[in-house]
Amino acid sequence: MTSTVPRQPVKLGDLIEGQTAAHLAVAADDLGWWQQQLYRGEDIVPTTGLQRALSKALERLGWLEPGTEGYRLTGEGYEIAYNRGFVRVATRGWTPTFQQVGVAATTGDMIPARTDPHAVARGCTDIARRHPETLQAIAVRIAGDVHPGSTVDLGCADGGRLQIIGEFGLSEKLVGIDIEAGVIEAAQQRLAGLGFADRVRLRVGSVQPGEGLPAWLDDGIRRDVTTATSFNLMHQLATESGGIDKVLGAWQEWFPSLRRLVIGDVVLSDGARWHDQPWFAPTFEIYHELTGVRVWRHEEYLDAFASLGYKVVQCFDKDHEIMVTWIAERAA
Ligand SMILES: C[S@@+](CC[C@H](N)C(=O)[O-])C[C@H]1O[C@@H](n2cnc3c(N)ncnc32)[C@H](O)[C@@H]1O
Repeated sequence: MTSTVPRQPVKLGDLIEGQTAAHLAVAADDLGWWQQQLYRGEDIVPTTGLQRALSKALERLGWLEPGTEGYRLTGEGYEIAYNRGFVRVATRGWTPTFQQVGVAATTGDMIPARTDPHAVARGCTDIARRHPETLQAIAVRIAGDVHPGSTVDLGCADGGRLQIIGEFGLSEKLVGIDIEAGVIEAAQQRLAGLGFADRVRLRVGSVQPGEGLPAWLDDGIRRDVTTATSFNLMHQLATESGGIDKVLGAWQEWFPSLRRLVIGDVVLSDGARWHDQPWFAPTFEIYHELTGVRVWRHEEYLDAFASLGYKVVQCFDKDHEIMVTWIAERAA
């Protein structure tokens, strides 16, 4: 399913300068420079010594060039800015895990995932914003329901996807669940500031199937949910529960009125060597191998939908060679 543009094997220079460049890309993102150029077209005008050093380095990297009043993106820079979420997840989000490997490997077979959850959340939402048409298609399908219900995003992180779905004018009630209390707290504040407080209910809790119903699942949510979405989490939940169908089966029990599943995830790619694979695939796969999490094939998701009586009605795979979003529905 994955086709790959041939790349060169990673060389020493890539290793050193790539690492530094990634840090600079995230720093520029912290300053909002990429968004300023991508979405507002305003030149980047450095105002401090650090900003001048950063912009000079980005110019020497070939990502910025002199504009009318300051700096603007080059073609290469646009590519980095557009995909900045991946850089943030790999550079900031997963560093706490990669930092443990050498020491843990003297005795251990795997390491627990340690992340910067805020960096993962922000990076994932920036990744989602690259292709709003995927979320728009979901909003259109939900809006077409004869009997409106609620949409729950399982593993919602900073609520970014719920916000994007809501921005498409959907009147459906929205619910978000995430295990990271700090991320949910920050999401509450951010969404309230954007006027979403009344539309989105956020809860802290796990969406991993276990014994009985989860504590966060009140009667109202249980009764109302007709659409369940989950992005970039199923591979992890399915590893722990012993299959994608096990997780989906439990969610079906949690939400008896559920009739639409929207699952987005990163699938296993082809290619024996890192440079035979699409970019990000090697990073994603080794991160999960180290933490004992399986990455699943496209067909395994399709089998799981079918086993529960769901039919895939739309599939989006143009976002990235290894990222797929399926909309699957079943008769009410
Ligand atoms: C890779 S991020 C994906 C974020 C978001 N769904 C997206 O793709 O834009 C995975 C998210 O799932 C959350 N998470 C991990 N395990 C969870 C669990 N058992 N229950 C609920 N949320 C969980 C993490 O805190 C994180 O926010």
